[in-house]
Amino acid sequence: MRLLTAAVASLALMVGAQTASAAPVEIKFSHVVAENTPKGQMAIKFKELVDERLAGKVEVKVFPSSQLFGDNKVLEAMLLGDVQMAAPSLSKFQKYTKSLQVFDLPFLFKDMDAVERFQKGPEGQKLLGALQKKGLVGLGYLHNGMKQLSASAPLKVPADASGKKFRIMTSDVLQAQFEAVDAVPLKKPFSEVFTLLQTRAIDGQENTWSNIFSKKFFEVQPYITESNHGVLDYLIVTSAEFWMGLDDDLRTEISAALNDAIAYGNQIAAQKAESDKQAIIDSKRSEVVNLSDAERAQWVTAMKPVWKQFEDEIGADVISAAEASNQ
Ligand code: LMR
Repeated sequence: MRLLTAAVASLALMVGAQTASAAPVEIKFSHVVAENTPKGQMAIKFKELVDERLAGKVEVKVFPSSQLFGDNKVLEAMLLGDVQMAAPSLSKFQKYTKSLQVFDLPFLFKDMDAVERFQKGPEGQKLLGALQKKGLVGLGYLHNGMKQLSASAPLKVPADASGKKFRIMTSDVLQAQFEAVDAVPLKKPFSEVFTLLQTRAIDGQENTWSNIFSKKFFEVQPYITESNHGVLDYLIVTSAEFWMGLDDDLRTEISAALNDAIAYGNQIAAQKAESDKQAIIDSKRSEVVNLSDAERAQWVTAMKPVWKQFEDEIGADVISAAEASNQ
């Protein structure tokens, strides 16, 4: 009996020693924007919370500014296990699902409150699972903000965009949106945008105040039309293989840290939409062009037919639910 007790005790010691020396689970978090952005700040907060709450069990390593992967490569890398988390914009998933394209439809959401209501509602929550068949898990949405149009000449009415080259994210909806105003859309990675603008290889681009500010696009784009014509938000993703391979308790704790970091990132997003716009105005490097109601109505009329074009791919019910979130 005594022998048995001793054997059990030494086995327990061995297991204990093994657990103590087990390497922490590593989460490489790759993204493409600067650290002083909603996504950059959210990722840092996530790392801090994990360090605080799960020291020794989980280690988060954040790679900003496309240091590890650009958005066009990161999902493939994730499926290969080379990176565990990323937060590409919702416009960058069309290879994996068509339904998330709803977020790209021009003039669908009237403001970020509407986006938030849609994401929290049943259709928005269902879309988190849209990547399941492809081996990816949507862990949550993160806000950036409404998009504006920057260009080398003022854009007041759709005719001003005609024939001009605009950089877009890898989205067929965004392509159709610019084609609807006879512009020339070019799908390019975020990391190349500044140089394309600086060298005048392209005339303009669409992005949020925080991306236009943090990547200095305003220094090489003399005009920014405050169009609020679309939304740029993110989906935080991981691979099903990594996620389901975690212990239940650990998964719950990582989720909780992530949700707290998302709440923090969303606050930063709301602040930066104001403060980065103001910083651009104060810099006097770029003029903010405001649209009259009549001018804005022209953009809406030109671009809104894109909804119909993508209705079958996205689902009429999803589009209706998104539209209803404006009320
Ligand atoms: C872009 O490519 O313009 C954005 O998706 C960058 C980002 O992640 O905010």
